[in-house]
Amino acid sequence: GVKIVTIGGGSSYTPELMEGFIKRFEEMPIREIWLVDIEEGREKLEIVGAMARRMWEASGYPTQVHTTLDRRAALPDADFVTTQFRVGLLYARIKDERIPLSWGMLGQETNGAGGIFKAFRTIPVIGEIIDDMRELCPEAWLVNFTNPSGMVTEAAIKQFGWRRTIGLCNVPVNAMLMEPKIVGYPEGAEDLTFRFAGLNHFHWHRVFDRRGADITARVIERLNDPDNGMPVNIADIPFPLDLIRAIGMLPCAYHRYYYLHAEMLAHALEEFARGESRAEQVKKTEEELFELYRDPALDHKPEQLARRGGAHYSDAACECVNAIWNDKHEHMVVSCENRGALSDLASDSIVEVSALISSKGAEPIAWGEMPAQERGWLQMMKAMEECVIDAAITGDYGRALEAFCLNPLIENGAAAQHVLDELLIAHERYLPRF
Ligand code: NAD
Ligand code: G6P
Ligand code: MN
Ligand code: MN
Repeated sequence: GVKIVTIGGGSSYTPELMEGFIKRFEEMPIREIWLVDIEEGREKLEIVGAMARRMWEASGYPTQVHTTLDRRAALPDADFVTTQFRVGLLYARIKDERIPLSWGMLGQETNGAGGIFKAFRTIPVIGEIIDDMRELCPEAWLVNFTNPSGMVTEAAIKQFGWRRTIGLCNVPVNAMLMEPKIVGYPEGAEDLTFRFAGLNHFHWHRVFDRRGADITARVIERLNDPDNGMPVNIADIPFPLDLIRAIGMLPCAYHRYYYLHAEMLAHALEEFARGESRAEQVKKTEEELFELYRDPALDHKPEQLARRGGAHYSDAACECVNAIWNDKHEHMVVSCENRGALSDLASDSIVEVSALISSKGAEPIAWGEMPAQERGWLQMMKAMEECVIDAAITGDYGRALEAFCLNPLIENGAAAQHVLDELLIAHERYLPRF
């Protein structure tokens, strides 16, 4: 049987992960799951660990669930290490969002200054996890879900040298689940072929029917429909269709922050003025979820988890593990090494692309060149990501400022530096390298 270690096991998403593994048990029998957390997450881990045990008991499968605050006790001989941790928990995310907003700039979990600081806090920890893995489970796959997923995956592979890493996101999963329905293919993704290329939270895709005809233009016309697979955490301000028609590819939901910067900023500032950034809404949802998880009668994933943007997370994480374990050569959209798939980016850059997942990991499917506008965006965003990763590892202040300068959601000038300084102070205890 398989041994899974999940770092950040106290996350409210854990029941989603358990449900995904239970659903796939016949294909992939899991012997043991170790949920790992830290002292700050002790209470969450206990509650969600008990909930996970009830879910497995109700399933009738013999899988053992262990909880521990000692990562090194969990890792020996793991087959898969999945990561879903948040350094500083949601308290840190509240600061990531509120500080830029207080300077009139976008405050968001994975974009702009907040996303950069989430990377600064997370990347050194991923390095420590990999140090332990090298020693204790040298054959294991690292399946990373921790945001910013693309940058964390790039650091794991390029900087820390763990080539058996795959980065995940639920945004492509949701798009592939919902788009067939809005263009009249009720069978869902089975009917259509999807091809994605770009970066995490910054990719485009095309859609083809069974005969290979490109139906992207038809999907674009329905892009602003309700139930289009948009994650619930993003304000659904309609995309300007004239722009998207000219691009000729479907943007991801996060492109709104760039294509509609002013509108998305105004929306975030309104919520901020009401005293409720997304992080604060999520904190409330989390408290409600843990109230439910405490109920000793609850033994399945509650509906309310759908209020989190990571819905269908397990269809990415558990299916990826399954596809590796069973050598399925299955199409999934993942963050992995480019290796020429996107000819406009370096071959060792981490990109989020359509790939075939097998026991050898992710083999990216060739996409080719991007049109000029996307080429420009991609190269600029990748340069920004590289600066972020370099700053996270070196603690170099100037490099951090450079990343801020490149990031289009951060207004350049003195205010950018104030935001940087305030975030450095606010997160000081999680930024030992700065
Ligand atoms: P959370 O705030 O509940 O944190 C999860 C757990 O991580 C907490 O219990 C915390 O104590 C623990 N933790 C913090 N530092 C740790 C460390 N060094 N080692 C082990 N555990 C540690 O987070 P959440 O809101 O449930 O989200 C979890 C993570 O998943 C976040 O990074 C989030 O951005 C990410 N996420 C990613 C996607 C995606 O598409 N890739 C979707 C949803 C969430
Ligand atoms: C989407 C993204 C995730 C992100 C999440 C935020 O699903 O793919 O990367 O973490 O939304 O959701 P939340 O409920 O935490 O705001
Ligand atoms: Mn994501
Ligand atoms: Mn900038």
